Amino acid sequence: MTRLPSGELALGGVPLGDLSRQSAEVGGDAGARVGTPTYVYDLDGMAREARELEDAFEGTPHLVAFAVKANSAGPIVRALVAEGCGADVVSGAELLLAMRCGVSPERLVYSGVAKRDDELDLAIGVGDAGIRAINVESVEEIPRIAARAAAQGRVARVTLRINPGVDADELDTHSYIATGHDEAKFGVPLPSVADAVAALDAARSNVHLVGVTSHAGSQLTSVEAYLASARAVFETAKSLRPRFALEFVDTGGGFGIDYGDGCPVRPADFIRAARAAQREHGLGDLALYCEPGRALVGAHGVLLAKVIQRKIAAGEPTRRWLMIDAGMNDLMRPALYQARHRIVPVVMEAGARLLPFRVVGPVCESSDDFGVHDLPEGDVAEVALLDAGAYGYSMSSRYNGRPLPAEAFLRGGVVAALHPRKPITDWVDDRR
Ligand SMILES: Cc1ncc(COP(=O)(O)O)c(C=O)c1O
Repeated sequence: MTRLPSGELALGGVPLGDLSRQSAEVGGDAGARVGTPTYVYDLDGMAREARELEDAFEGTPHLVAFAVKANSAGPIVRALVAEGCGADVVSGAELLLAMRCGVSPERLVYSGVAKRDDELDLAIGVGDAGIRAINVESVEEIPRIAARAAAQGRVARVTLRINPGVDADELDTHSYIATGHDEAKFGVPLPSVADAVAALDAARSNVHLVGVTSHAGSQLTSVEAYLASARAVFETAKSLRPRFALEFVDTGGGFGIDYGDGCPVRPADFIRAARAAQREHGLGDLALYCEPGRALVGAHGVLLAKVIQRKIAAGEPTRRWLMIDAGMNDLMRPALYQARHRIVPVVMEAGARLLPFRVVGPVCESSDDFGVHDLPEGDVAEVALLDAGAYGYSMSSRYNGRPLPAEAFLRGGVVAALHPRKPITDWVDDRR
């Protein structure tokens, strides 16, 4: 993200004002209009993130399984697959999408606390031998997987997702995205691992344990919390090893990004620390998997929005709102867990005086509120909500009859693909 000398914001070398106001040439179609609200993504920036993370493994056996939930747009998944990523999916639909985008079954892992039978059937049945691993999240899931595999005459490969029981305060992230503490629904609690082992033993003819995994939480900004969870994975793997032919350990995703308050660590730092701890536990011969979502895509996407109008309370000049055409349905993170995205004008006039405005969307909810931001006192036509590449579009909804936002994908300084906004009549037709 850069500010050009003209005052215009640019992403991936493309001036964003041009993009939202004019027709962009997309694959030779000069008539495709981008408009607003639109997510704009820099595929080159995302590919760079993937390469930097791949390099942190220094050629040792590994898999970077992109958490598709963070952003399931095909051009993004394909760009990351081209850099060597596999995928971590959480539904049958994500599994099919990842495969359509070029992820082979052997490079797919599947997490989720409540997978349906048809989703398990899909994971077990794809390709020659099913996906790389289904992450088992409860003791109760093991006989279910065994039965589904037996029905297909197959052996399902699974990992044991433990709940490492890290202290929730130590995770230092919003409670809605902290997953590795005792109260969370995710993973097999450490005291239940013995029961899981018994269930795995009983299911040996149809279920093979190939790895141990955990995911501590998302938007972690220190290596310590990640390592606490990783160590629990390594200790569990060590204890299971004589009994099961483990092939890998998976320390999950969760690498934080800088939303404006700083983030002192890079994804590669988490991996270097995890690799060192893996070796200390005598597990250096196993492959190391990780499941990053946000860190690969978050910083390389913005949400462009048009300013609809401003509103200033009479006699209360400090009560100022800037109303934009993107709402909580388009970017849910602020309403869902008080996340803050920086908001800046797409074109910054030189010498503009900045005043605090509360930026809100059109949705009929008080939580449709993007917070207070310093913005020019004078007219602003468009704004960009920064760092919106992860958990933005993928969480969007059609609440209030609003069409899903458009998405523009930039590569090499041009719009490489465009997913246009659907007409409002689509919603009317679907709902009537
Ligand atoms: C099991 C699992 N893996 C990976 C991720 C991706 O997390 P992040 O986007 O923080 O890297 C999540 C996110 O919730 C998850 O639950």
